[in-house]
Amino acid sequence: MSVKPILFEDNVLKMIDQRLLPNEEVWLEYTDYKAVAEAIVTMVVRGAPAIGVAAAFGVAFGARDIFAASFDEFRREFDAVCAVLAATRPTAVNLFWAIDRMKRCAQAHADLAGADLKERLLAEALEIAAEDERINRAMGAHGQVLFADGARILTHCNAGALATGGYGTALGVIRAAVEAGKKISVYADETRPWLQGARLTTWELHKDGIPVTLICDNMAGYLMSKGEIDGVIVGADRIAANGDTANKIGTYSVAILAKEHNIPFYVAAPISTIDLTLSDGSLIPIEERGHDEVTHCGGRRIAPAGIAVRNPAFDVTPARYISAIITEHGLARGDFNTDLAALCAKRPA
Ligand code: MRU
Repeated sequence: MSVKPILFEDNVLKMIDQRLLPNEEVWLEYTDYKAVAEAIVTMVVRGAPAIGVAAAFGVAFGARDIFAASFDEFRREFDAVCAVLAATRPTAVNLFWAIDRMKRCAQAHADLAGADLKERLLAEALEIAAEDERINRAMGAHGQVLFADGARILTHCNAGALATGGYGTALGVIRAAVEAGKKISVYADETRPWLQGARLTTWELHKDGIPVTLICDNMAGYLMSKGEIDGVIVGADRIAANGDTANKIGTYSVAILAKEHNIPFYVAAPISTIDLTLSDGSLIPIEERGHDEVTHCGGRRIAPAGIAVRNPAFDVTPARYISAIITEHGLARGDFNTDLAALCAKRPA
């Protein structure tokens, strides 16, 4: 039973503080949209689908606190709430997908009285959260057939239960393979600078009894050259129409290493991560984060003060390095433009 990082109980949104894992399990409580936006910026909650789920609750909280005389007035204030949440992190498209879905819900129920409309929006946020775990399980069922019994799989960052409404995308495929009776072992890249692999992936897999070995980011090539890795699976923050995939910084290097060693490289992501409005990955906005994440580790300075720093949080892996993209509606492989468009056509309107 995998962890669920986002709970809604007694009208309170509860999120495990992912900044403190694995040393402390602290649950923070949220009842207003500005605090939810802050939680996304500061990475209390992170991972593309989880950010989308949290933002949906943020929108519902914002709507709840609007007291307007007409729907038009409501809609103006509501759009301002959505804009605050949309300005949190730029790369993961699930954030914008979830906010758009909440906007469509508000518009579709413009005829409801204030209190009913607010209840409907909360119900939509709850549905987005519940649906996310169902989607991940469907993705797991489609993807697990790609892994043989005994496979040793490398993953980068955390695309697990912690990054979603539950179960995980890349780690969901691993969980599904294990549930199908296969002996799977996982190598987790530590994932500097934020250490999602070391702190989060190892934590949740270890909790579930799935064998996991932690490596530093620069060790993957050596292990591949020694024949110790059979496949790579990662999540995604945004996938362009041609299959180019933005994911945590370092993913691109792992994909090139996998290609060099003839190791399959898979991406697992829900349809909501696919952005058909972008023809290729060069158009994906890449978040640049604060310098402290690079100059410090575990709260200690590891570089001279005043040194120049770059900190792009994501990179783009060209589609040619990707063996298959696993979604809840099946796999895209080969001609990604055609396959991804066909998979997106199965998305409910
Ligand atoms: O900066 P983060 O931790 O939000 O980045 C997360 C990732 O890059 C994940 O791999 C991606 O969001 C997929 S999560 C299912």
